[in-house]
Amino acid sequence: MKQKTPVSPTVLEGPRELAEAAAQSTAEVIDSAIRARGTCYWALAGGETPRGCYEVLAREPYRSRVSWERVRFFWSDERLVPLDDPASNYGMARAALLSRIEASDDHVFPLQDPARYTELLGRLPRNGGVFPRFDLIHLGMGEDGHTASLFPGDPALGEQRALVLRVRTSKPPPDRLTLTLPVLNAARQVVFLVQGAGKRDALARVLGGDASLPAGMVRPADGQLRFLVDRAAVAPN
Ligand code: 6PG
Repeated sequence: MKQKTPVSPTVLEGPRELAEAAAQSTAEVIDSAIRARGTCYWALAGGETPRGCYEVLAREPYRSRVSWERVRFFWSDERLVPLDDPASNYGMARAALLSRIEASDDHVFPLQDPARYTELLGRLPRNGGVFPRFDLIHLGMGEDGHTASLFPGDPALGEQRALVLRVRTSKPPPDRLTLTLPVLNAARQVVFLVQGAGKRDALARVLGGDASLPAGMVRPADGQLRFLVDRAAVAPN
């Protein structure tokens, strides 16, 4: 089994505290990126866990404090459903955050077509190599250790060149698009948001350095890796 350096998580009491901490951390990263480079390139996560964080960011003080017009919004994965479908990751973020901060459509890039997204990602700053370097990538994690739409055993995990892949997954809806590991690992900062007892086993393995799980393969080569988790997701000592 492939083994990586263990990672220490930041443990929050519950989902509300996790959402608050994630919002604060996100606002800090955005502010820092804008101060340093004028723009923040942010790939949002899918699933339900990030919703709380995005709703906190849509309220004061963050609604007014963050220079949202300097942020460019992308997604780390997306389900191939209509943007207004309840299963859409874009739809969740629009309802929770984007519609409330009045983000310009020119700065929001739904993940709908691999070729178009590859071209868009080509405009991002690079990591010194060939890969686009996001300032921040949010990721969730499934109970099986999947992240984005990279699932255990999927050949997509071995992709070393493409930036975006179409995959068929065990978690419905099955038809999806996902950023690949080289893009995730080129980021300046990757933040996992994980909550709930159901994630406990996979989280313990990933935090312990088990790189046989997709979430355990995310280790930014030249960037920060953070896990913001709630107490229910952390195995009792
Ligand atoms: C997706 C996600 C996926 C998600 C995990 C956790 O589109 O489904 O990107 O990787 O983050 O499945 O989902 P929950 O946050 O809903 O538990």
